[in-house]
Amino acid sequence: MDELRVFTGNANPKLAKLVCKYLGVELGNIDVCEFNDGETMVKINENIRGVDVFVFQPTFPPSKNLIELLVMLDAAKRASARRVTAVIPYFGYARQDRKDQPRVAITAKLVANLITVAGADRVLTMDLHSPQIQGFFDIPFDHLYAAPVLIDFFQKKGFEDLVVVSPDIGSVKMARAFAKRLGASLALIDKRRPRADVAEVVNVIGEIEGRDVVILDDLISTAGTTTLAAEALKKAGAHRITAGCTHPVLCGDAVARLDKAPIEEIVVTDTIPHAPEELIPKIKILSVADLLGEAIRRIHEERSLSSLFV
Ligand code: R5P
Repeated sequence: MDELRVFTGNANPKLAKLVCKYLGVELGNIDVCEFNDGETMVKINENIRGVDVFVFQPTFPPSKNLIELLVMLDAAKRASARRVTAVIPYFGYARQDRKDQPRVAITAKLVANLITVAGADRVLTMDLHSPQIQGFFDIPFDHLYAAPVLIDFFQKKGFEDLVVVSPDIGSVKMARAFAKRLGASLALIDKRRPRADVAEVVNVIGEIEGRDVVILDDLISTAGTTTLAAEALKKAGAHRITAGCTHPVLCGDAVARLDKAPIEEIVVTDTIPHAPEELIPKIKILSVADLLGEAIRRIHEERSLSSLFV
């Protein structure tokens, strides 16, 4: 078996280090810095000719994270790596995945094109905003779910008469899979968006009265969706409300909103890093490092990943 190397940009080096620890390898030697004018500059400081290279970088805002990913892929390709895999724990720009209004861009497709043109031979990511984005790529694509990590957490909570709630139509499939694994029933919030980044609850569909509730989403950004869902569920008579998501984007006042919401605990993963002082005690962070590390190992060893897709 040839060598495996992992290189990271500046988006989430902490998670990259945990992944390397799982794999038992040192993080690759790379400089990812800026020229004086702010342009990104990358230099790989070791020979990677013929090497199986994994370029690690989630692409949450600012867009500099995406640029770093692209420039690292280009550097790896031009350094004659045998294969270059883009490891993108959070795939940003995914919410604009179709022309739902006149004259808008499809950024998910644009970013897919950029990643491919920059030199990725394959992609590894986690909980895409919509799974169809896989089809925007014409290179091999592995899509992991954080479900094993989140479900393990929920199972230990001793919930009673649990109902998993999807806070909008988009997350129903995810919520249904969780409900099945947790032996819970499923409910749905009928959410509308009068404007981008503004959510409104229209209706709660399902039996909520007196039950423990888990609100589940792929990401929490402004937290409008999650907090409005929690308020509607409280009104509908929910007992204990917990929320969970894979990607804690947490922009603007999201943390303050979550703090005030009738939610006991919010569980997220470390695909997007946050300093402890930015968070509040009821936000619990679980690591997906071992899951990503195992997927990288199996890709490198040309083994099946399907048992990780649960
Ligand atoms: C929507 O389709 C997504 O699944 C999330 O519900 C949404 O993007 C969360 O955004 P926010 O936290 O800003 O309401």
